[in-house]
Amino acid sequence: MRYHLKFSFIIRGKLPATAKSLIDQWLTELQALLEKGIKKKDLPEISRVTKWSVVSRSEKEDELQFTMTSGGILPPHHALLRMRKFFSQKLGREFRLGISGIVIKSYKIDVDIPRRPMKEFSLPFVSSIKFSDTSATVTLQKNIPIDFIEKGAIDRLVKLVRNKVIEEMIRGKDEHHLVIWSSPKKEIRCTDNPTELMIKEGWIQRTGYRNQWIFGPQITALAEALKQIMIEHLYKPLSFKNMIFPKVVPWDIWKRSGHLSGIYQGGFEPYFVCTPKTADPEFWEEIADYYRITLEVEPEKIMEKLRPPIGGLSFAQCPPFWIYLQGKTIADDSFPIFVYDWSGPTYRYESGAAHGFERVDELHRIETLYIGFPEQIKTIAQKLRLRFRKILGEILDLEFQEAWVTPWWTSQEGVADTEEEQVTLQTFDRVGTIDFEVYMPYRGMRETSHWLETQNVSIIGQKYPKSFTVKSQSGKEVWSGCGGGSFERYISAFVAQKGTKVDAWPSKVLKYIDKLPEGPKFL
Ligand code: SER
Ligand code: ZN
Repeated sequence: MRYHLKFSFIIRGKLPATAKSLIDQWLTELQALLEKGIKKKDLPEISRVTKWSVVSRSEKEDELQFTMTSGGILPPHHALLRMRKFFSQKLGREFRLGISGIVIKSYKIDVDIPRRPMKEFSLPFVSSIKFSDTSATVTLQKNIPIDFIEKGAIDRLVKLVRNKVIEEMIRGKDEHHLVIWSSPKKEIRCTDNPTELMIKEGWIQRTGYRNQWIFGPQITALAEALKQIMIEHLYKPLSFKNMIFPKVVPWDIWKRSGHLSGIYQGGFEPYFVCTPKTADPEFWEEIADYYRITLEVEPEKIMEKLRPPIGGLSFAQCPPFWIYLQGKTIADDSFPIFVYDWSGPTYRYESGAAHGFERVDELHRIETLYIGFPEQIKTIAQKLRLRFRKILGEILDLEFQEAWVTPWWTSQEGVADTEEEQVTLQTFDRVGTIDFEVYMPYRGMRETSHWLETQNVSIIGQKYPKSFTVKSQSGKEVWSGCGGGSFERYISAFVAQKGTKVDAWPSKVLKYIDKLPEGPKFL
């Protein structure tokens, strides 16, 4: 790492000729201050002023120009903030002069990187980046404001340069996926594509919008049965309470959840939400009139009347819950907090062609959420895992497996993880995600086909309580975890193995369905 900063203090007044020798002394004094608390071996790495001069700005103002360089420790943008304080005091005491501003003239940073990236990149606030095999020389744009430094943006920028190179290296590799448990094999009664089967039966119908579906009464009854199964076999015995989570998510939530770091980078593809510039009827009248005459809308015209997005539609379902606990200190005996939500759909802008009922833009998910002390979270995660195992394997009678996978939040944040540890995870005792994947006979052989992720269970650790500042009364660490399973996926998986002939469905499921309701006959 090498930093090279040129900047000036603007002096409100003129420096006397005697100032020069004093400033030399002050700089020695400043250096001693900066060196305080630094290990001896690190001293050559810290910031030091290598050049300085006084330049007249006008009749009334002088400029103190500095060049400051460093290695990887106490870089100039940190030293500069201390130097401002130091010089303000000195100039005030000695000459009754003040610093009225700081101008960043140029900032060049050699960032150590593990290799030259295949695809070179540029970044906001940066005028150029030159790559070699071991470093990226970043030149910042001129005149970056001082609050950019004060808010820690330079450090994040440097980290981002390195992370982008590392992420490119990791992206080439597959996400981690390790099968840790498999159900017994089940007799296969169906080898058809479940989406096509359900369309044929009239149970589901595609709308005109992307991959969106209408659940007919038949499939809705199956979804309701699934809810009842979840309540009876999971939520009631484990004391989970039903809640209703918001489904519009303002930016602040995605800042805290980390999602914004990965926006449209391969894991987080939200729908955006815009509000009108005003609800004034006059403002909208022309749109209404246009429609009344042409019977058409002009989306572009509407766009002009909208504010930029306030955020988007719920994507991962649990993040907007966290406002409920944000900034709170919670009584120790209120933990663990166990809740679930299925109050509405969540949205993802799925790229590529239609994916059938198995991968939809508008998905109806059962989200299970648990917050508590680390041991409580580990215990509940394992209990949930065993209960989901029972629901999938014994009640729905499906053939499935459990896999230890790249956690959903790291893939949604766009930070790939490198863990490739061999685990069996008899008990779920660490941060990470287990996916429940169902064999889909229509996709091919068990060994070579892709199984459908239908449910996950995660231990997320401190991440959410920390970023939403949730504390426990005793100050003990608070963890969280969550699990999601979509109705679309459960139903697709079930129909893929069991077909649409209700007589052939397991009696443990039929217990929850009196009689499959009929839809209209379409002629
Ligand atoms: N929030 C988790 C996810 O998005 C579980 O639903 O996968
Ligand atoms: Zn979640």
